[in-house]
Amino acid sequence: MRPVVLRTERLVLDLPVEHDTELVAHYCGDPLFLKYLTTPWPYTVEHARAFLTEYVPAAWASGDELTWAIRRHEGDSLLGVICFRRGNEIGFWLGAEHRGDALMAEALSAVCEWAFSGTVPDVESVLWRANEGNRASAHVARAAGFRRITPRIATVPDRRGHPLPAWHAEHRAEVEPDAFASWEPILGSAT
Ligand SMILES: CC(C)(COP(=O)(O)OP(=O)(O)OC[C@H]1O[C@@H](n2cnc3c(N)ncnc32)[C@H](O)[C@@H]1OP(=O)(O)O)[C@@H](O)C(=O)NCCC(=O)NCCS
Repeated sequence: MRPVVLRTERLVLDLPVEHDTELVAHYCGDPLFLKYLTTPWPYTVEHARAFLTEYVPAAWASGDELTWAIRRHEGDSLLGVICFRRGNEIGFWLGAEHRGDALMAEALSAVCEWAFSGTVPDVESVLWRANEGNRASAHVARAAGFRRITPRIATVPDRRGHPLPAWHAEHRAEVEPDAFASWEPILGSAT
């Protein structure tokens, strides 16, 4: 698939490129990535370069994983990334300095809307999974209209592929009426 540019009120989502190497390496050294993501650890500039110059373009071409850079404007520095994988699962992170402004919920809503636009065939729902306890990520999923689900096996693989307890949610084309309330057991009822 050819890379697609998405726009929101405050953001542009476009292709992450080699120019983003230093920032990606810097952001991915955040201890939260060790706890909640499967990115290499310790994360080096070489990891970032290989991700941007090899992995991202190949995964767009095959359609296996569509990764967008999150920027304020086209050509601006990268704030974070969001990806949509084969199997309709979403993944995302923001550099620590860019959190706290609800940017990811905005990016996530745009990617879901795009996923349901018909460009990718047969998307009935978009899936979100996070390690149990990743409340910031759960807040983002709730804000973007996901509904929490409890599959029989609720896990997510860790760096070595071993299963960890996880929270799951899905987003259908139409936000379901009970979506917000479904988060209450883990996030409470306040926004
Ligand atoms: C998940 C992440 C992208 C959210 O960043 P963000 O878009 O800036 O989100 P915000 O900081 O605006 O916070 C989102 C919500 O979570 C809440 N929140 C933030 N950190 C929190 C925490 N540690 N515990 C509980 N709630 C938290 C905020 O109050 C906010 O609530 P609201 O949306 O109801 O107002 C960011 O924390 C991140 O990159 N984390 C590391 C990578 C990661 O975990 N990715 C997801 C893997 S599934």
